[in-house]
Amino acid sequence: MRALVVGANGLVGSRLVAELLRREHRVTAMGRGPVRVTSKVPWVSLDLSEAERVTMTIEVTKPEVIINCAAMTDVDGCEREPAKAWTANVEGVATLSRAARVAGSHVVHVSTDYVFDGDAGPYDVDALPNPRGVYALSKHAGEAAVRALCEKDRWAIARTAVVYGWPAAGQKNFGSWLVDTLSKGQTVKLFEDQWVSPSLALNVAQMLADLAEKALPGIWHTCGASVVDRVTFGKKLCERFGFDAALIQPSRMADVKLLSPRPAKSGLVVTRTAEALAHQPLALDESLERFHDEFRKVST
Ligand SMILES: NC(=O)c1ccc[n+]([C@@H]2O[C@H](COP(=O)([O-])OP(=O)(O)OC[C@H]3O[C@@H](n4cnc5c(N)ncnc54)[C@H](OP(=O)(O)O)[C@@H]3O)[C@@H](O)[C@H]2O)c1
Repeated sequence: MRALVVGANGLVGSRLVAELLRREHRVTAMGRGPVRVTSKVPWVSLDLSEAERVTMTIEVTKPEVIINCAAMTDVDGCEREPAKAWTANVEGVATLSRAARVAGSHVVHVSTDYVFDGDAGPYDVDALPNPRGVYALSKHAGEAAVRALCEKDRWAIARTAVVYGWPAAGQKNFGSWLVDTLSKGQTVKLFEDQWVSPSLALNVAQMLADLAEKALPGIWHTCGASVVDRVTFGKKLCERFGFDAALIQPSRMADVKLLSPRPAKSGLVVTRTAEALAHQPLALDESLERFHDEFRKVST
């Protein structure tokens, strides 16, 4: 399969490139600036706002599948700079989708549980989105761009949530930040009233690769199989890594003034994904076990 991975310097994108290469697909990787976390892959340095060059790259490489892992992911940053969020998360996605239609490419577009308001999760694939905040609104509009502009049944939307992995790619993720902080014996405050579907980046990448290989259409929840509050996640991580669980201090979302609203009772139902894909969404214990293995491999 000829695949174009967009956002290949990111946490998910970098793992996906490695996973597709491991499966011996022909991969072209696109990212901003020079390649930082992936090697031995043809690299196109592009910002998604460069619509003409993005379109030309797709015209020339004619990928059978385009997997878009690029996004402005800093939730509060999106609130501060909505125009920048719109350019990356909506206009960039529209550019990719239009070019995919012309080139005959299937699109797998990575989205988020933030398209839901978090009032009554976990949410299944057919639940009605109700995004709050600029990041959420822009990701929801990105989903709409894919659905409107790609050819019928030639797109998949793959929603994920709280992605973590070791090593971090670029900025710290929830899991790597916890390990960094707890390993120094420092305390962390975690929300006891926010429920999420923690997702190991490698597991997400494997499910995206499965979706791409089968060119499965529609909406998919490619995240971990367990829905837990953040304190439970932290305590289970302590158990697995041998950190002192007393370092976890429960707090509530209302205690912190967040620039952008966060879904409280979120989480995604993964039944459809578990039925269709070879790589299953991992339950939390298994996911943390593999995270610990990743950590040990790099640290020893
Ligand atoms: N991480 C999570 O907890 C989480 C949760 C739910 C959903 N998701 C979704 O999962 C996908 C992958 O996220 P991730 O965790 O891998 O995030 P990430 O590590 O922040 O990677 C995103 C990548 O997108 C690139 N990018 C941003 N704006 C761009 C632009 N205008 N043009 C080209 N590239 C651009 C970034 O480039 P630079 O490296 O140059 O900044 C970065 O490499 C995203 O769609 C995100 O919305 C993530």
